[in-house]
Amino acid sequence: MALKDFFIALSENQFLNDNAKKYGLKLGAQTVVAGTNLDEVIISIQKLNAQGISCTVDHLGEFVQNEAEAIAAKEEILRMIEAIHEHQLDAHISLKPSQLGLDLNVDFCYQNIEEIVSYAQQYKLFVNFDMENYERLQVTLDFVLQLSKTYDNVGTVIQSYLHRAMDDLETLKNTRVRIVKGAYKEPETVAFQTKGEIDANFIRLAEYHLLNGKFTSIATHDHRIIAHLQTFIREQAIAKEKYEFQMLYGFRTDLQKSLADEGYPFCTYIPYGEDWYGYFMRRLAERPQNINLVAKQVFNK
Ligand code: FDA
Repeated sequence: MALKDFFIALSENQFLNDNAKKYGLKLGAQTVVAGTNLDEVIISIQKLNAQGISCTVDHLGEFVQNEAEAIAAKEEILRMIEAIHEHQLDAHISLKPSQLGLDLNVDFCYQNIEEIVSYAQQYKLFVNFDMENYERLQVTLDFVLQLSKTYDNVGTVIQSYLHRAMDDLETLKNTRVRIVKGAYKEPETVAFQTKGEIDANFIRLAEYHLLNGKFTSIATHDHRIIAHLQTFIREQAIAKEKYEFQMLYGFRTDLQKSLADEGYPFCTYIPYGEDWYGYFMRRLAERPQNINLVAKQVFNK
């Protein structure tokens, strides 16, 4: 647990985030981040599409310090939407409200997000709102519910470590939802702390949304949970149009490919951009074994 806290603290350090940008992908991050620019990520998406794998693309960025940075982030996402359309990629967008100015001004952020959603809608592209830390949860849900009144291409994430997850899922019944365990450090007042509780809740939420919800993205690298839900999907005859499995780019690539080869709908979450550092530190926090990626880079010079 201490190691997890250490990496989460590193992920939140603004000085380190700012400096990492200047030096390009380092420390092994290139294994899990698909490039620093649009051209590089398009090639990665095309390779995955060729294997029958769809992608959700995330232009990395969390700490924006002023409105100009948030607008630059919005413009990059608009360029990505255009590129998906132009290159006929099997891909959609994932975004983080904080990257679009949530912490600066809620209305300004909403306007940025609505512009993205409405632009994506014209190409029938789906936009997923990643879920960040607990402080940002309610406002993110409010955005999604408000936008769903006008647009049908928005969805978000439910984190199974949260006590309130099932209630939130109920309000998102008519929405496309990604179920995850949760990547941030949250106190026991709001979140389960043990793997057993988090995993059990993940299964409960996924089964509920598979049966009652619009569309379920089952986002985990946990082969035990995947095997359990494969059986559930088969027994309940859940149609392929109602779900997909999701994993992060660069993780368990053999398992990703074998699920796609077996005919399961599969989507890889594919992050790119200069702002790779916070994302990479959270991956180390989840699974300190990923430090092997770092060690290989440091020693294989
Ligand atoms: P977990 O880390 O709990 O591992 C469970 C078991 O799986 C391990 O004990 C091991 O046996 C096996 N395993 C896991 N990784 C392995 C590997 N690389 N190699 C071999 N075995 C491995 N979080 C969030 O808060 N907001 C969000 O919006 C998102 N979005 C998101 C999208 C996608 C597509 C994914 C996959 C994940 C997220 N997350 C997220 C992150 C999520 O909350 C969670 O932190 C991580 O997925 C880690 O939990 P897992 O369920 O993957 O397995």
